[in-house]
Amino acid sequence: MPGIAVYPGSFDPITYGHINIIDRGLKIFDSIIIAISYNQSGKKSFFSLEERVSMVQETFKDEKRVVVETFKGLLVDYLQSRNAKIILRGLRTVADFEFELQMSLANKKMSGNIETVFMMTEGKYSFLSSSIIKEILLLGGPVKDLVPDVVVKLFNERLKERKSDIVSWE
Ligand code: PNS
Repeated sequence: MPGIAVYPGSFDPITYGHINIIDRGLKIFDSIIIAISYNQSGKKSFFSLEERVSMVQETFKDEKRVVVETFKGLLVDYLQSRNAKIILRGLRTVADFEFELQMSLANKKMSGNIETVFMMTEGKYSFLSSSIIKEILLLGGPVKDLVPDVVVKLFNERLKERKSDIVSWE
């Protein structure tokens, strides 16, 4: 009974690393809710929540088993509100492990019936992160095969508008 998995994250922006996990997740789970977090803990995003949602929606517009939502507050509370029990996360390298372990244990402590399922990121995406993408885009490097076209398009629009006030972001 594979059911629903929730794939949470900031998606600032979505990358082919995320997409790869979702595509493979759809081979295991009946449906996946992509849960995009509001800015929390002072983490400033480059794209607004609406933009992050629209890029993810555009990417999965033909996939009926993917639902895109946003959430505020605790992830475990969000899962409860959706009657979901599985969190899906990708693991790129050992560097991810400590944070992911902490998060999954904290979530388990708060909600004993929730399980986090980890999937190893495919090797060709193991270096890929939203931060790396923003840096490459900002410096005019190539991002072919790393992010969907919609990301490049929106990034360039935002860059034009915000050229003067972009100094750094996480
Ligand atoms: O894409 P990210 O930044 O790795 O995603 C992190 C995210 C959004 C999954 C994580 O920060 C999260 O679950 N935030 C919700 C707040 C919460 O439940 N915190 C307690 C778990 S440690």
